[in-house]
Amino acid sequence: MSEVHFDKEKGSQIKLFTPGPVEVPERVLNELSKPNDTHRSKPYSEMHQMAVEGLQKILFTKNECLLFTSSATGIMEACVRNLIKDDEKALFMSIGDFGNRWHKIGIANGKISSKKEIEWGTAVKSDILQEELSKDKYSVIFLQSCETSTGVYNPIDELVPIIKDYGALACIDATSSMAGIKIEVDKLGIDVCLASVQKCFALPPGLAVASVSDAAIEKTTQVKNRGLYFDFSELQKKNKVNQSPNTPPIPQIRAMVAQLDYILNQEGLENRFKRHAQLGKRTRIWARELNLEMFPEKGYESDTVSTIKNTLDIDVKEMLKLLLAKGYRIVNGYGSLVDKTFRIGHMGEITVRDLEKMLIALSDILAKLQLEKLS
Ligand SMILES: Cc1ncc(COP(=O)(O)O)c(C=O)c1O
Repeated sequence: MSEVHFDKEKGSQIKLFTPGPVEVPERVLNELSKPNDTHRSKPYSEMHQMAVEGLQKILFTKNECLLFTSSATGIMEACVRNLIKDDEKALFMSIGDFGNRWHKIGIANGKISSKKEIEWGTAVKSDILQEELSKDKYSVIFLQSCETSTGVYNPIDELVPIIKDYGALACIDATSSMAGIKIEVDKLGIDVCLASVQKCFALPPGLAVASVSDAAIEKTTQVKNRGLYFDFSELQKKNKVNQSPNTPPIPQIRAMVAQLDYILNQEGLENRFKRHAQLGKRTRIWARELNLEMFPEKGYESDTVSTIKNTLDIDVKEMLKLLLAKGYRIVNGYGSLVDKTFRIGHMGEITVRDLEKMLIALSDILAKLQLEKLS
């Protein structure tokens, strides 16, 4: 194990500019090591309630916010199992790998699942969605806010109201944007808004969260074979008394409560959104200055992850290796975009100053690799 990457005493010393998991601040890590009472105790219930109320503020919602002992994919599957009846059709609007993954989950669970895949790098537009919805009767529509593979941010403020006009349930995978980009769940009418917490929340992996509307909870009562562990109605019943049906990851919930308090009462939610917007903008300016093109179409770039085209035709793997040697990790393109793109995650607790330092190191490496190509 390399000393740069792994320190037995201090843990990893690499600065992560990744689209998750991201760096967890020490104050949060300290919370993980504190002793806890059991999950059937009053202190746990108080903590659970604080977690739910904090999430409701982050998502601007009065909807039930549920805690899942899983990563985001668990809730993606839960949406499919809880909300689609056997004789109903569901539509997956895909703009990349994570959209495709949700569709695969639909198929894997035996649901009637249609997919509309849109050219990677572009966002779902209102007219495309409207056209799809007018073709057939769909009961649930699934889409990402931020598609982490392409770095595109869908215009959910326009799309969700259209879904509601058609009387369908709207499920939004906000895994790489929740707590980094504003999502107004109640104003838009989002039925399920889900995320894992190892991204914009800057928490360790192992916990996922979702707001679930009354209409979605009600729908579960009509759906057969929805399983037990991720049954929304079972989770909601226990949530009402600030409990969880099974043993929850208590240390992670403690850490989340501390981080929610930091986000809401110290940094401030609007400041957090503004910082992420600045991080996105700074990364895009840097890319432009180096003649690197963004993969997403203009105007739809995410402020939490930048997917950048390899327009300089550099050896991406070598670039990542050299940057790692300087103590920073960014990542290659996802799936079929490997080597054709690379991604810089700027989510969680990263500051513009942190980003600036990493970009200086990355610029040096790019200059070196370009020079080598000339010789
Ligand atoms: C948009 C999106 N959806 C789903 C996932 C899967 O999340 P998890 O690994 O927490 O299951 C990811 C992970 O990167 C993601 O970015």
